[in-house]
Parts: sequence; C-alpha cells; structure tokens
Amino acid sequence: MSENIVVPQTQNKEEKYISLLPQIRALISGEPDLIANLSNTAAALKETFNFFWVGFYIVKDQQLVLGPFQGPVACTRISRGKGVCGTSWETAESIIVPDVEQFPGHISCNAASRSEIVIPAKTGGEVTFILDVDSDKLNDFNSIDKKYLEELILVILEN
Ligand code: SME
Repeated sequence: MSENIVVPQTQNKEEKYISLLPQIRALISGEPDLIANLSNTAAALKETFNFFWVGFYIVKDQQLVLGPFQGPVACTRISRGKGVCGTSWETAESIIVPDVEQFPGHISCNAASRSEIVIPAKTGGEVTFILDVDSDKLNDFNSIDKKYLEELILVILEN
C-alpha cells in the first residue's frame, strides 16, 4: 500500500490544516492500532508544516512516556504537572506557549525550541495521550493551530 500526503502550495496555515485533516482521517481509517496512527499523524504533520518537533506522549504508569514523533531526540518521561506537557495532562487543557522561557517549569528537551503548543487527548474525561509541537521560532502558534490540532485529536480518537 502506498500512501502520500498532498501538501498544498500555500503559506496559509489554515488552508494547510483544512487540506491535511481529511487526509489524516483517510490515512488512519480502519486501522485500530494507536501507535501506527500516531506515527503516521506525526509524519504527516512534519511533512505539511515542517515543524521543528512534533510528537506524542502517552500516559503509562502515571507518567507521560515518549511516543511516535518526528524531529530531534527528546525527553522520554514527564511527570504529571511538570513542564508544558505535564501541565496539559493535569489540567486537561490545550496550552499555547509563545515563549518557552516564560513558562515556569518548561522542560527543555532541545535548546533550539522557542515556542510550543500542547493538546491533550481525552477519553471518558481522562487524558490518555498528548500532542506536543515545538517551533524554533518565538510565538509560532495561535488559535488556528489550537482549533485544528484539537480537531485532529478528535479525528484520531473517533477513528
Ligand atoms: N517542552 C516540553 C517537553 C517535551 S519536548 O518539548 C519534546 C514540556 O515542557 O513539557
């Protein structure tokens, strides 16, 4: 089976998300394995946006454990309430961090990361994994990213 992601020739973030979401839905459709689906989702996000780091942390044994990702090597375990990811897990809310140096307790897995967005995936009220995207530019994420990345998480959960 060959799968390709079509990346629209536009600099407009929203147009890229609008093109990408149905492609991810099709890509993971009928595949029940979460790791396989998170792997392809991370790759499709990287290919479309060339994010510095994009990946998932999965809740296992009371910790967030590194899951499928694209980008430089990263921290493997994050405790609940720690860093941006652990805070998003604890509050079950998405978090946009315009400048990681201004986020108390930010966990720096790579010194080049300057801004970040984290989206929690909730099943029955419980966070089961989170999506983390890092940029090497300050203030790189906004409400458009939040809206479409939250939709993307629903696409994965509803599959
Ligand atoms: N910066 C995150 C840690 C994960 S890495 O960015 C990949 C945090 O503060 O939770």
